[in-house]
Amino acid sequence: MTKYKVLVSVVSIIIAGLAIASSGDIAERIKRVGDVCIEGADCASTSALTMVAASGGASVEANFNKSCATCHNVGVAGAPKFADATAWAPRIAKGMDTLYASTINGLPPAMPQKGMCFSCSDDDLKALVDYMVAAAK
Ligand code: HEC
Repeated sequence: MTKYKVLVSVVSIIIAGLAIASSGDIAERIKRVGDVCIEGADCASTSALTMVAASGGASVEANFNKSCATCHNVGVAGAPKFADATAWAPRIAKGMDTLYASTINGLPPAMPQKGMCFSCSDDDLKALVDYMVAAAK
């Protein structure tokens, strides 16, 4: 399981936990989520999780579904499909910095600037590239 998938699922648990606990003991719920994280074999640190939760930042998976999936799930206009190792291999060979740059700046003619995620920071976009590359290995 990749770090991001773990992070996404833990964040989902936090969100679900907070929703369930709206009238209950939130601190206890958060503590339990922390326990789940510590028990995980390949888990992001709790401080990173707290930052994500506190900033209210959208998860990598949510950003992917919102902005990238439209083209990358089906391969619109030659977009390398999600988790398609053959399609991604020549792109990965260009190096991560090139992929980050073509995502942030766009890659004419069909890959739009920021992959159409205009609420994404450069770091959010890099995390999306990491997520897509990890899925295609
Ligand atoms: C409108 C459709 C579309 C959307 C939306 C889109 N992409 Fe793409 N993407 C493409 C196409 C088409 C290519 C292939 C471009 C080419 O090689 O000519 C591509 C290529 C890429 C590449 C490889 C770049 C390279 O240098 O080879 C990355 C990385 C990428 N997209 C990431 C993303 C991310 C991250 C998002 C969401 C934030 C996203 N894309 C959203 C169409 C899209």
